Amino acid sequence: MSDPARVQTLRFERVKLASFRNIQSAQLAPSPRLNLIWGDNGQGKTSILEALYAVATTRSFRTDKLAQAVRSGELQARVSATVSEGEFIRELGLKQGLRAREVSLDGKRPKTLVSYAVRTPVVVFHPRDLELVTGAASERRRLLDRLILYADPQGAEAARRYGEAVKERQRLLDTRGVGAAELGDFERVAAEHGARFARARFEASERLLPELLAAFGSVTPAGLELSARYLPGGSQNPEEFQGQLRARRPEDCRRGRASFGPQKDELGLDVDGRPARSDASQGQQRLLSLSLKLAELRCIEGTRRAHPVLLLDDVSSELDAHRTESVLALLQASLGQIFVTTTRPELFAGSVFAASDRADFRVENGVVQRL
Ligand SMILES: Nc1ncnc2c1ncn2[C@@H]1O[C@H](COP(=O)(O)OP(=O)(O)O)[C@@H](O)[C@H]1O
Ligand SMILES: [Mg+2]
Repeated sequence: MSDPARVQTLRFERVKLASFRNIQSAQLAPSPRLNLIWGDNGQGKTSILEALYAVATTRSFRTDKLAQAVRSGELQARVSATVSEGEFIRELGLKQGLRAREVSLDGKRPKTLVSYAVRTPVVVFHPRDLELVTGAASERRRLLDRLILYADPQGAEAARRYGEAVKERQRLLDTRGVGAAELGDFERVAAEHGARFARARFEASERLLPELLAAFGSVTPAGLELSARYLPGGSQNPEEFQGQLRARRPEDCRRGRASFGPQKDELGLDVDGRPARSDASQGQQRLLSLSLKLAELRCIEGTRRAHPVLLLDDVSSELDAHRTESVLALLQASLGQIFVTTTRPELFAGSVFAASDRADFRVENGVVQRL
């Protein structure tokens, strides 16, 4: 019998791609630990990570439109994967057409896409993740929402319903003004789900922040101080929430959007007492974005009781001494399966992983070859 408290290892055992971006067809039997995918720019490295991410989560990390991944001239991209979690084996399948998407779990259609996605936790880190620190607050809210998916499915459902109700309220405000009779009904529903969603966001931040401080401490030189806090844009109290919506009708009507609610949440990040977004050095911003990802991984590990698969895209693109160190720290800290793409495999020559724990793949013009 397996110990239910144990953190399971999750891994891709076999992966098959067809007509995915520039890859006509490929089959991989990855290593349980480190997989190094190397090749020159534009050969298909990121596409492999994207395919792994897509079959696990039904989404892409580089576009909102997964249909763009369908190989030019083809009608459907396909990814299938055998994934093991401890002693359990699952078959995942994704078929992405030019319009429709179809996923299967052990040959059957899952009840919901969310129930499908949380089964195979994957954390991806790519160069654009710097925006977690330098970009709009929505980037940081999305991180919290990924944690909510795993830890609090009802909170995620509340978020969806809140979004719908707020949209309806705004439509009424825009078309009929602050006196529309049904406004009160939509505000009551929005407040109920909004308060529940606000609680989910608060709880996600409570889990994330300690992990973030620990991660930042482990990848930065001593003496650099991070202060991080959750700044709520709404309220966890439905009455207060509803009162605010009501009071803000004129303002929201003028602005064309709701000025109160979790869509205004922010994660405040200060390095050495100054806002990281505008004032931290680029090196510090990189380490902070990496720390946010490490913290995300730890949080999902804790709630999901499985080591997520880690996908690191293009870690070598701007590798300086700092970044090499932090990437190695990240690799060592993650106990699960790892996929790394790089144009510079020589940087991994002295890797902490034994040869038996590592597989190298070479990608050239969409053709994947195990070395
Ligand atoms: N839908 C598609 N069909 C065919 N080729 C594509 C499609 N989308 C992108 N590509 C091409 O796939 C190639 C590989 O991209 P990518 O995986 O990002 O390369 P790498 O990460 O190795 O730099 C690029 O040259 C790109 O132009
Ligand atoms: Mg790439």
